[in-house]
Amino acid sequence: MIGTGYVGLVTGACLADLGHTVVCVDRDSEKIDALSAGRVPVYEAGLEALATKHLESGDLSFTTDIQEAVSKSQFVFITVDTPPDETGRADITRVEEVARSIAGSINDYKVIINKSTVPIGSTKMVQRIIEESMEEYREYDVVSNPEFLREGTAVSDFMDPSRIVIGSDSQKAVMLLTELYRGLDAPLFVTDPVSAEMIKYASNAFLATKVTYINAIANLCEAVGADVREVALGMGYDERIGFEFLKPGPGFGGSCFPKDCRALLAISRDHGYDFDLLEGVLEVNREQHERTVAKVERLSGGLKGRKVGVLGLAFKANTDDVRESPAVRVTKMLMERGAHVTAFDPRAMDNARPELPGAGFAESAYEAVEDADVLVLLTEWDEFKWLDYERVRGLMARPLIVDARNCLDPVVLRKLGFTYEGVGR
Ligand code: UDX
Repeated sequence: MIGTGYVGLVTGACLADLGHTVVCVDRDSEKIDALSAGRVPVYEAGLEALATKHLESGDLSFTTDIQEAVSKSQFVFITVDTPPDETGRADITRVEEVARSIAGSINDYKVIINKSTVPIGSTKMVQRIIEESMEEYREYDVVSNPEFLREGTAVSDFMDPSRIVIGSDSQKAVMLLTELYRGLDAPLFVTDPVSAEMIKYASNAFLATKVTYINAIANLCEAVGADVREVALGMGYDERIGFEFLKPGPGFGGSCFPKDCRALLAISRDHGYDFDLLEGVLEVNREQHERTVAKVERLSGGLKGRKVGVLGLAFKANTDDVRESPAVRVTKMLMERGAHVTAFDPRAMDNARPELPGAGFAESAYEAVEDADVLVLLTEWDEFKWLDYERVRGLMARPLIVDARNCLDPVVLRKLGFTYEGVGR
């Protein structure tokens, strides 16, 4: 496993759990030392336990020596990050470097698997780089095998996937990879490499579109007096629509959706296609942040000098990740308009601190809302649903709540004397 980021660690630990012997490689020796001592740098449910278990059994190990790891392995996964460049395109410099390093260590037949989200055509490109960098020809195949792991549930997503997508022109590689994934009960979808690469982008952009669609419907529900939660339920019974991904909020975020939508737009532009629909999705998503801020502003009668208690900074619940977090974006905008923010998040405060200079950080949700003019709930952590809102009411200067995730019960809150605003209800 080359690259011990989020995807590499989850895939490595899970493959060890399926009974394979896994070596994870990273050039960052401090990281490798920490991992070898059982310290997993990301917060992901079940990952540390799984890694520790297989570290102890010897099925999982960590090294900086890519040559040794590759030469001893039958399968080589490329799981390095592909951050966006200034044009939104995925930067594949690291993938190229890794491909060159792998080439020198191919001693017998190997399946090289591209798991990183890469531009269309990258599987072929990796193949070309390896071919050019090889000193003596050895047999190998390069395969596209995109991951669909969600943060927070990545281990169970790996163990119980919706599908396994393999993009390859080599029957031998497909058969071996099928063998590797034996033990996972999921449809196996074999296709060509370019289509496999497209499946990843098309899936993420579709899900981002779905969230954006329900956000737009929520906005309309507010105007006409409908309840978006009822509307989403009524829609979901249609199997073609389904119940998932119809929760409105402050806009989608995270390390994948915004980046992949922008990358797919760049790919479209490069190929002369105007993907106006996707352009619109990103625009509506930006507006959704703005709408959330406007709601707080309206409810509190202007933001200048107001004290705002923010609950939630992670881009969604059950993660410490704040990358492209709508909660952080909204908090920033509240501060830019003169609000004094005190924020609390159960996991993401350390990551959020550098993003929010000038904000106060509380030790608890109750501390965050002390003397606040308005409470703004931005991430749907369970613990926010079960706060003692009578106590919250007593702590706040004014009883105003903007619930940007529809987590709370407006009837209960109104009885307690709050003015409540959700999304689309
Ligand atoms: C996503 C994809 O789901 C996963 O398949 C891919 O491999 C990586 O990207 P992730 O970014 O971890 O996973 O989060 P996800 O749970 O999909 O949520 C993405 C964003 O959409 C979050 O900001 C979330 O709050 C938002 N969202 C999701 C909603 O606002 N409403 C919904 O109904 C669902």
